[in-house]
Amino acid sequence: MAEPTERRSTKRYYLMCRPTHFEVSYAINPWMNPDKPMDAGLALAQWERIRDLYLGFGHEVSYIDPVEGLPDMVFSANGATVIDDKVLIAKFRHQERAAEADAYRAWFADRGYGEVLVPEHVNEGEGDFAPAGRRVLAGAGFRSDPVAHEELRAFFGLPVVGLTLTDPRFYHLDTALCVLDDDLVAYYPAAFSEESREVLRELYPDAILATRDDAEAFGLNAVSDGLNVVLTETATDLIDELRARGFEPHGVDMSELLKAGGAVKCCTQEIRHR
Ligand code: ARG
Repeated sequence: MAEPTERRSTKRYYLMCRPTHFEVSYAINPWMNPDKPMDAGLALAQWERIRDLYLGFGHEVSYIDPVEGLPDMVFSANGATVIDDKVLIAKFRHQERAAEADAYRAWFADRGYGEVLVPEHVNEGEGDFAPAGRRVLAGAGFRSDPVAHEELRAFFGLPVVGLTLTDPRFYHLDTALCVLDDDLVAYYPAAFSEESREVLRELYPDAILATRDDAEAFGLNAVSDGLNVVLTETATDLIDELRARGFEPHGVDMSELLKAGGAVKCCTQEIRHR
């Protein structure tokens, strides 16, 4: 067998939102059940664990203040997409989350980001938009409007690859695909349309294909810095495969945030500088 590729971590800047007001009080994806008990203290400890891992890797983390009445705001990946310091704010599909967009707009404006676009079409930030090198993979099917892909392309001036999600359990691109480095991804083929699978096969012949169990465990909702990959610890085949490819996987327990249909990546927005 060939030697695993030499992997290198690059310093990242993340935006996170403490799960102070986190709860499952409505259901807007198939994982959410407001009748099921959720341990808020444990949710906070799980969130702090991933934050501490990022800090331990040498990354920088900023925080946006949680807003009462916005229980899903902990999923900061959905708030915006930032590339080259340009900020495309989200516009949420569901009324329950709509007000989060304004909190993110204000956060970036207050910090002097000059190029901030409040979009016309529905896009749920990095939930559906995954920058990969100098292209952006863009999901649609459940949340982001395919028309938003054009807004994304025009704003950043980068090529956009549209991908269609077909299984409601994998309602955001980041539940079914993870960018591991500029030209390597892991994904769960069954979450995509036949055409999108073909596109992914073409673009990423060496991609890691996740098993159904690992996808259902939200293993693909992972954060990679090029070397370290933080993901749910139950995604065991994916963890083995990442190690075989030279990455350093860090398994975490996300039991409580999973009750809202989110895991590691959902809690982590990456701010990409120029
Ligand atoms: N309950 C949230 C929703 O359905 C979870 C969002 C998860 N975030 C993500 N980036 N996939 O909108």
